[in-house]
Amino acid sequence: MTMRVAVAVSGRGSNLQALLQSLGPSAPARVVLVLSDRAGAPALELARRHEVPVEVLLDAADGSRWLAALERHRVDLIVLAGYLKLVPAAVVTRYRDRILNIHPALLPSFGGKGMYGQRVHQAVLASGARESGATVHLVDEVYDRGTILGQTRVPVLLGDTPERLAARVLEAEHRLLPAAVLAAAAAGKPVTLPQPVEFFS
Ligand code: GRF
Repeated sequence: MTMRVAVAVSGRGSNLQALLQSLGPSAPARVVLVLSDRAGAPALELARRHEVPVEVLLDAADGSRWLAALERHRVDLIVLAGYLKLVPAAVVTRYRDRILNIHPALLPSFGGKGMYGQRVHQAVLASGARESGATVHLVDEVYDRGTILGQTRVPVLLGDTPERLAARVLEAEHRLLPAAVLAAAAAGKPVTLPQPVEFFS
């Protein structure tokens, strides 16, 4: 049975694009809904181009709005791909262990409220860490705290700027997130990925 995936976005949507590319017609998972707290998010245009239904949440803290859309589209799995707000508690409760997030650093370091975008990469560089990476984890009631399912590491290079590091991490995200969704579809629920993560091409 195809796993029906909702992707929540707030911005650009490059991870959504990676998912749409990886989850072709014969894939065991399919993006059936894109949710956003921002009507102007470029990711929504991408969804529309792919003829994926879009739901803009006028009040993203209102769990009943989320749940109505998720039920209407018979969603099995929620993926946060650059979604910046907290998922309402009612949604976390209903979809416990069925919500994934992608974070652009090696959690549990460099996560938590306010750690998004360039701030993450600035903090990594300021710490002197020799490597960074991407993390896929389960979502619970606290930002970036849920069980880690898989990580991809990338080196921090001499002379890196936050932008250069972000670009290197983003490439890793685009491989890791589809791998996590495909593994979830194969298992029927999100699972820990073997390390190092094997990528499907
Ligand atoms: C990614 O770096 C992701 O890890 C973080 O937000 C960014 C979203 O990028 N949560 P995009 O919108 O998928 O291009």
